Amino acid sequence: MEITKLSVSNISLPTLGIGTWAWGDRLFWGYGSDYGEVEVQKAFEAAVANGATFFDTAEVYGLGESERLLGQFLKQTTQPVQIATKYFPLPWRFGKQAVADALTNSLERLGIEQVALYQVHMPFDFLMGQSNLMAALAEEVKEGRILTVGVSNYSAEQMEQAHEFLAKYDVPLAVNQVRYSLLTRQVERNGIIEKARELGVTILAYSPLAQGLLTGKYSPDRQERVTGARKLDPKFSVSGLSKIEPIISQLKKLGEKYQKTSTQVALNWLIAQGNVIPIPGAKNAKQAAENAGAMGWQLSPEDVQQLSQLSND
Ligand SMILES: NC(=O)c1ccc[n+]([C@@H]2O[C@H](COP(=O)([O-])OP(=O)(O)OC[C@H]3O[C@@H](n4cnc5c(N)ncnc54)[C@H](OP(=O)(O)O)[C@@H]3O)[C@@H](O)[C@H]2O)c1
Repeated sequence: MEITKLSVSNISLPTLGIGTWAWGDRLFWGYGSDYGEVEVQKAFEAAVANGATFFDTAEVYGLGESERLLGQFLKQTTQPVQIATKYFPLPWRFGKQAVADALTNSLERLGIEQVALYQVHMPFDFLMGQSNLMAALAEEVKEGRILTVGVSNYSAEQMEQAHEFLAKYDVPLAVNQVRYSLLTRQVERNGIIEKARELGVTILAYSPLAQGLLTGKYSPDRQERVTGARKLDPKFSVSGLSKIEPIISQLKKLGEKYQKTSTQVALNWLIAQGNVIPIPGAKNAKQAAENAGAMGWQLSPEDVQQLSQLSND
């Protein structure tokens, strides 16, 4: 039977979530240019309709706009939806109250009283220290405003330390959200994946489509399609796009075999790693529905292995 839910600490999440960095973000993604509120609301609706009822946001996305939009959409759905948001450890946030205040503001924008998952966006601690930061988060779990605690961009060592600090309060570390895709597999080599398994920490894979590269819609002869900040990224240059052609072509082939799209194959490869939940971004209904369609089926172990080998070259 196909697994559609994953136990993450004391909660259960769909095997894929939807990332909402692009919702309200003008600087990197160009919100307000070729897509806006109407499109992202439709993305939300299409995701929920297709079983992707878990959304990842952060207080910094669109300077709060992503959380505000999600809050607005949540009011209009009767479906149960789970939200993960993030605390950004800014240098001037050094007391426990700073965590409480940031969470209060996030919950207000989201219009809810509790989040399924609250993550520390970056492993910075400045004057606060990880020990105090984890203590403040554990307190919020006891208060019931957070169901589970996560971290993001933490190394294997930092993750283990956070896990130890939280254990003092009997609070498990639920996730480490890190960059992970067929084109960015450093987490397999730097100990993060291994340590996460050992500690029972789930990996949330961000940029699982390598910011659009793995959809196959950007190619050396269609490089002009690249928009916004990605134009400055060498991976989106003609030579960058040429380099990944073998993977793009294999994704297409496998898509034909399983009657899925390249995007769905790339996301399914991540799900197949086990203990990994990809959180692809989606700017509109079509992208959200397509990404949600990466759930509910499985690549064969041989095809998973072959893709792994190809992308390691
Ligand atoms: N914790 C962190 O530090 C961190 C960092 C980055 C991201 N994140 C989280 O991870 C989420 C996803 O990462 P990401 O947005 O960087 O990258 P991504 O999911 O790899 O790529 C998202 C982009 O790919 C394109 N796309 C998505 N689905 C598509 C589809 N089905 N067909 C065609 N194009 C599609 C869209 O852009 P175009 O249509 O413009 O190509 C979309 O904005 C974010 O929303 C955020 O929640 C977290």
